[in-house]
Amino acid sequence: MKSRFITFEGIDGAGKSSQIAAAVALIESRGLSVVQTREPGGTPLAEKLRALLLHDAMHLETEAMLMFAARREHLAAVIEPALAGGRWVVSDRFTDATYAYQVGGRGLDEARFAALEQWVHPHLQPDLTLLFDLDPIEAARRLAGTGDAPDRFEREQADFFERVRNAYLRRAAADPARIKIIDAAQTPEAIRREVEGIVLETCFQ
Ligand code: TYD
Repeated sequence: MKSRFITFEGIDGAGKSSQIAAAVALIESRGLSVVQTREPGGTPLAEKLRALLLHDAMHLETEAMLMFAARREHLAAVIEPALAGGRWVVSDRFTDATYAYQVGGRGLDEARFAALEQWVHPHLQPDLTLLFDLDPIEAARRLAGTGDAPDRFEREQADFFERVRNAYLRRAAADPARIKIIDAAQTPEAIRREVEGIVLETCFQ
């Protein structure tokens, strides 16, 4: 069976992280080997870039280029070798996040985003992307409930997350075959069933 590249996306607080483990367990239960990873990060160098990105103030274009620099490293060291070796890859975020946060949230010029995407991965796109869609007010409420200290992105206001959410939805409308929208206001159990159904339907047919 062909290996697959699956990504999870959504605004902070949408609850995707807790669903990733269930998707990985489902794929492994079919006897397949899965690499679970995340962005920004996934390699020692990319994790160092993550620490800078999440905590240090910087110019918007620096932020976009560092996201793609981390991604270049992640692709070369983890994603491409895994897929070439027949392993599945499940990543917590990928390039749709740069479109949503840097273009949608921060106002990065779309042509510059497209140029970086074309440079870093001209041919590869995820086989499936699960977009956890949630009202930013509810997402903020969930984040506040964790008690964790917020990072540079999580400290943004509701209007920022409204723009991020809308950019994700535009990206999904442009590629509905790849990006599946999940209503993240449902119960965790209902979301898990929906995620499993989509993974089975799109990847195991
Ligand atoms: P995430 O791993 O979801 O955060 P957490 O560990 O707190 O659950 O993502 C880290 C942050 O990075 C998140 O706020 C979104 C942001 N981000 C971008 O702005 N652009 C990108 O390209 C990526 C991959 C993440």
